[in-house]
Amino acid sequence: MTKRKTEAAPQAETQKRPAEARPGDPRHVAIIMDGNGRWARTKGWMRVKGHEEGARAVRETTEACAQMGIEQLTLYAFSTENWRRPKHEVAFLMGLLERYLIDERPTIMRNNVRLTTIGHPEGLPESCQRELRETLAMSAENRGVNLCLALNYGARQEIVDATRRIAQQVRRAEIEPEDITEETIRKALYQPTMRDPDLLIRTAGEMRISNFLLWQISYSELWVTAVHWPEFRREHLEAAIADYRKRERRYGGL
Ligand code: IPE
Ligand code: IPE
Ligand code: MG
Repeated sequence: MTKRKTEAAPQAETQKRPAEARPGDPRHVAIIMDGNGRWARTKGWMRVKGHEEGARAVRETTEACAQMGIEQLTLYAFSTENWRRPKHEVAFLMGLLERYLIDERPTIMRNNVRLTTIGHPEGLPESCQRELRETLAMSAENRGVNLCLALNYGARQEIVDATRRIAQQVRRAEIEPEDITEETIRKALYQPTMRDPDLLIRTAGEMRISNFLLWQISYSELWVTAVHWPEFRREHLEAAIADYRKRERRYGGL
């Protein structure tokens, strides 16, 4: 083990009681972290500088969620479509993810964060997967916020994967087609126990979903800000949550 890897906080941290959320707060917040490249370009820098700065926003947002007692924070980090980007940008993002997974271990442990993933992490470079496995294992017993990274994630792919899984259950005669319910589909998703996001935030102003959590966001409250992801701070999260508290969630009823 290298020096760097042994820096994580002591095990006792994992015994900390989770922070309490205020009633009416979102229990699951999901974020489409967007605008890294545009933010860097406004400063005359290379796009990748925006990704680097975005890592700071990830840390601050995670810590804020941990302190507010939010149960789950799901961050869209790399989509199945992001492979279409220039090779050097994809390579930079993979390197950044690897570095993040090592450098953030002390922050993750100090904040009692349990790291999880959705998507196809097995499609990431081997070195990334190695650091991911280690950080997942290290934080597995933590009971604070669940930080779920969407890595090589696409919502349509998730639905395709779920459909295949269910088709196999039918073929093995474990269930009948007419017994398939919404619950059957939910259980076949990447994180079967994940509750639907209450609040979905998108930064950098785009009014689209970009293939994120299509099944799960049916009744999520949407909040879009013009702020680019590298400049997203606790105050922006608090503004989103304050807005969420004022919403009336009707779920089709009256
Ligand atoms: C979000 O920022 C990061 C990822 C999608 C990985 P972008 O890289 O999409 O930045 P913009 O949207 O081009 O400004
Ligand atoms: C969404 O951002 C994907 C992530 C945040 C990882 P994109 O920048 O890839 O989305 P589009 O291309 O603007 O729809
Ligand atoms: Mg973008």
